[in-house]
Amino acid sequence: MTNILVTGATSGPGRPLVEKLRAAGHEVRAMSRTPGDGRATADLSSGAGLNAALTGAETVVHLATNRRKDLPDTERLLAAARAAGVAHLVFLSIVGVDRIPYAYYRDKAASEQAIAASGIPFTILRATQFHSFPGEVIAMLGGRLFVGGLKIQPIGVEDVATRLAELATGAPAGRVADIGGPEILEAHDILTRLQRAGRAKPRVLSIALPGKTFAAFTAGHHLAGLPGSGTQTFDEWLASGASK
Ligand SMILES: NC(=O)c1ccc[n+]([C@@H]2O[C@H](COP(=O)([O-])OP(=O)(O)OC[C@H]3O[C@@H](n4cnc5c(N)ncnc54)[C@H](OP(=O)(O)O)[C@@H]3O)[C@@H](O)[C@H]2O)c1
Repeated sequence: MTNILVTGATSGPGRPLVEKLRAAGHEVRAMSRTPGDGRATADLSSGAGLNAALTGAETVVHLATNRRKDLPDTERLLAAARAAGVAHLVFLSIVGVDRIPYAYYRDKAASEQAIAASGIPFTILRATQFHSFPGEVIAMLGGRLFVGGLKIQPIGVEDVATRLAELATGAPAGRVADIGGPEILEAHDILTRLQRAGRAKPRVLSIALPGKTFAAFTAGHHLAGLPGSGTQTFDEWLASGASK
């Protein structure tokens, strides 16, 4: 039995990961800013509750994100984890963060580097976009989506959680092989499926945007390639009714 702290325990992969680790008999602290049953209440931005959450933790799985700039929070976590004597830190990153000059991805790559330089034995797993991602982008862009040749390899959060559980209960492995979903779909195709399922009514703008970030996405730097290790298809996820 390992004592494991999961940051971002309420995130897409966080919830199934906590369930899987507990089912396997591990002692899991599910970290959130909101108190709850079985939770460790802490805030990575202020540091409140962090030392208490880490006391006795042997392994940390770091999934928390503010979806803008996580590096300061990651550095705060690393300092506290080092002080607490954490023996293994597992970090979930995103495929292509070192090749796509999108601000959030650059920040994610900087977090990877900070972890590798921290002195704490680590494992870094990069995953492709989750099934919920296209719908979240549409909502963020006020119902519009630019597709211009974009492809996506969506993966189920259950599949990501299964791999994270293996890694968290194994030895530190450094950067491991990326994981992606079982199919690479045209963005147009995904939108059609979302519309058919009544999940989104995007106004699709089929144009290529200028700039290096869009070019890096259309070049496919965010794809893990086939065969993907994830098993849940986009249609299976839609049929499940899950929001994440
Ligand atoms: N979305 C994708 O397509 C995708 C693809 C590959 C990898 N990832 C990575 O997977 C992870 C989870 O992504 P997600 O999209 O599922 O995230 P999400 O739904 O936005 O959840 C964010 C999580 O971070 C926690 N959090 C945010 N600010 C925090 C703070 N100041 N202190 C402590 N916890 C804080 C939240 O906990 P509370 O609100 O409960 O406090 C929540 O559990 C991230 O590391 C992300 O980069 C995402």
